Amino acid sequence: MDKQQALILKEVQRPLVLGRRPVPEPNGNQVLVRIITAGINPHDQKGRDRGVLVEKYLPHAILANDISGIVEKIGPDVQRFSIGDRIFGQSNILSGGPDQAGLQQFCILDANFAAPIPHHVSFDKAATFPVNAIASFIALFSSSGLHLAPKFLGHDLDYANEAIVIIGGGSNSGKFALQFSRLAGFGKIIATAKVRSDGGQSLRDFGATHIIDREAADVEDQIRAMVGDELLYAFDTVNGAYSGGVSHRLALSLLSTTKTGSLATLVRGEADPAIAATKTAGFKKNQVLGVSDLHQELAAKFWRELPGWIENGELKPLDFEVIDGLDAIKVNNLLDDYRDGRAVTKTHVHPDHRDSILE
Ligand SMILES: NC(=O)c1ccc[n+]([C@@H]2O[C@H](COP(=O)([O-])OP(=O)(O)OC[C@H]3O[C@@H](n4cnc5c(N)ncnc54)[C@H](OP(=O)(O)O)[C@@H]3O)[C@@H](O)[C@H]2O)c1
Repeated sequence: MDKQQALILKEVQRPLVLGRRPVPEPNGNQVLVRIITAGINPHDQKGRDRGVLVEKYLPHAILANDISGIVEKIGPDVQRFSIGDRIFGQSNILSGGPDQAGLQQFCILDANFAAPIPHHVSFDKAATFPVNAIASFIALFSSSGLHLAPKFLGHDLDYANEAIVIIGGGSNSGKFALQFSRLAGFGKIIATAKVRSDGGQSLRDFGATHIIDREAADVEDQIRAMVGDELLYAFDTVNGAYSGGVSHRLALSLLSTTKTGSLATLVRGEADPAIAATKTAGFKKNQVLGVSDLHQELAAKFWRELPGWIENGELKPLDFEVIDGLDAIKVNNLLDDYRDGRAVTKTHVHPDHRDSILE
């Protein structure tokens, strides 16, 4: 069996190490991708340091699920792609195992959870979409999230007179939540974020209609002044390790006390009982797992539509930095930055293919 280079997690809380592992074969509706860009996200640090979602694959676990690259081989049932296509996709962290992960030269993707990269879009820009965009898409539109039913997805609800609050609008997931809220037609899209020297313009470009400085002492009062006691939709994207549960409490607190509102979150967290008790009409609170394979129908729609949304300018890519090669030191340092709460720009790894020995 041909081998490839990979950054391997052998043990939790140990650094990733450069090693070799087999190049997988695509089955059924799978493709083998020659990885050009593998994007790293906060959950990769949780995987390395706590075994989150990858423990069962130790000592051969591989991290990273934002993938872009070139189709190298196709499984017998693949109709959507041909060898040589430029594609991007989300590898399946739940059941795909190390074959479906990015910190290596080649990986498997399910054809349903991948899409052709629009012509004018680079591999790097394309790789900013998969994990963060699908997480926010599922948070807003699946029944396990806010369950919005907007016109752009073929439903008939109109949100022009509604507000949505995105706690962590400046996070990578939050930027997609802003863009999907704009596509859904919300009248008020309120983001909490650090206000930088552009005065929040970059988040307005992503769709925010109002930006509340997340460091202000009166964040809740400012938002309540805009939404009154009418807010039905809130989405908390903030990494709980940074906010200590504050973002969950804020989001829940903002929901209407007299109408049944919904809160979607990306990380686990209990509803504060004192705040929950004020919601006389109850509320819904769902932690979302933004994995395509878990939401097959909605995810397939997402992957069909995604290139068009990008081509029409309805979805913009995120900023990113690049690590050249499967550089264990640089990747481990980046994961340390996530672990230690340092500000991180989304980072891509470019596996080196010069020594590729795939036939
Ligand atoms: N469940 C899932 O499927 C899923 C999917 C994707 C991500 N996640 C999780 O969701 C979390 C966010 O992921 P990400 O990739 O979007 O993270 P990220 O972009 O790395 O988030 C960092 C940003 O969050 C903002 N932030 C930090 N503390 C905040 C606070 N107290 N209030 C408001 N904003 C705050 C900051 O933006 P500003 O400085 O600009 O305000 C910061 O730059 C992570 O824990 C990740 O593991 C879960």
